[in-house]
Amino acid sequence: MRKLLLVAFVVLSLVAFAATLKIGVVLPMTGGISAFGQMTWEGVQLAHQLKPTAAGNEIKLVLLDNRSEKTEAANAVARAIDKEQVVAILGQVASSHSLAGGAVAEEKHVPMLSPSSTNPLVTQGKKYVSRACFIDPFQGGAAAVFAYKKLGVRSVVVFTDVEQDYSVGLTNFFMKAFRKLGGKVKQVFYKTGDQDFTAQVSIALRYHPDAIYITGYYPEAALISRQARQLGFQGYIMGGDGLEAPELIKIGGEAVDGIYFTTHFNARGAATEMSKKFVKMYEEKYGKAPSALGALGFDAYLIIAEALERVLSKNPSLVNDLQGLRDALAKEIRNTKNFEGASGFITIDENGNAIKSVVVDVVKVNAPAGQQFDFAGIVNPDEIPR
Ligand code: PHE
Repeated sequence: MRKLLLVAFVVLSLVAFAATLKIGVVLPMTGGISAFGQMTWEGVQLAHQLKPTAAGNEIKLVLLDNRSEKTEAANAVARAIDKEQVVAILGQVASSHSLAGGAVAEEKHVPMLSPSSTNPLVTQGKKYVSRACFIDPFQGGAAAVFAYKKLGVRSVVVFTDVEQDYSVGLTNFFMKAFRKLGGKVKQVFYKTGDQDFTAQVSIALRYHPDAIYITGYYPEAALISRQARQLGFQGYIMGGDGLEAPELIKIGGEAVDGIYFTTHFNARGAATEMSKKFVKMYEEKYGKAPSALGALGFDAYLIIAEALERVLSKNPSLVNDLQGLRDALAKEIRNTKNFEGASGFITIDENGNAIKSVVVDVVKVNAPAGQQFDFAGIVNPDEIPR
């Protein structure tokens, strides 16, 4: 009887103390860059399946769609915090969205972890906003080094989407690094949603560049590539992580064959044991090869869940103090050291940025499904000129 009572007491107290902790996942599930949201969400759900609790408390995912819009990006974060009472925000993908949403999270003192926003300003001067990926000075530098040293490119025309902080930033970091290496650069501009790029392509062709470098996202990059090839451009086409979606090939067709782009992960260049495990689990669950965004969504969730675990094991009573938990979690996320993720080992520094290698992929339009983004190389942090 006594034993029974004791068991009943332990069970009851566990139930009484165990809370449900909500993580708000804010992604572009519809609109212009919805492919990014869908891929990230797949990775997040897979990771949640792997670790659904933190220190005995259930973790619940609340998905909010930012509709690929800046205003909605801020609104969704506010809704997650005020209505859903989330402990943390996982998101967003586009840097312009993370900037808009991050301002809200910072003001309301709620930790936010972006899986994939690479513009430096996303975390700059903030205490609550961190990221699980490298930043664009590094990505742009890696592209410059790859173009100059591996491809022998000496002249580039950069296509910049003036509506995207990501694109404007990546353009500047690339140009700086490429010029430092001794290369020549010119620029042309466009806007998110544009369809006709013949004017920009015509200007670009007058410079006879060895390569064009597109710093925006896949919908426009696919069309720019098509129109550049139609107008007779035969040089290299390059881009950043914003090109990585199967839609690049769907929209671009043969014109995107051979494009080189920098990114965060390739299943063929599996960086860690966790990468291999991730690829296997992902294929089993979704019946297709994983993407870089899937890997980053997966890692971002686990970084938050493990930081929550550490905070609550040390101080279990914080489950009853939402703001105290948020504050402790924001700090603990920046205590992430050598976390073994699908996208590599992740250490988040005191500024909230991860330092990682850049992967280079090459598009092979005619390869079997799942192998069309082929591994072309890796650039490590120490190879970038400063
Ligand atoms: N780095 C991009 C940005 O900051 C987002 C992105 C990451 C897109 C990875 C695709 C893949 O806007």
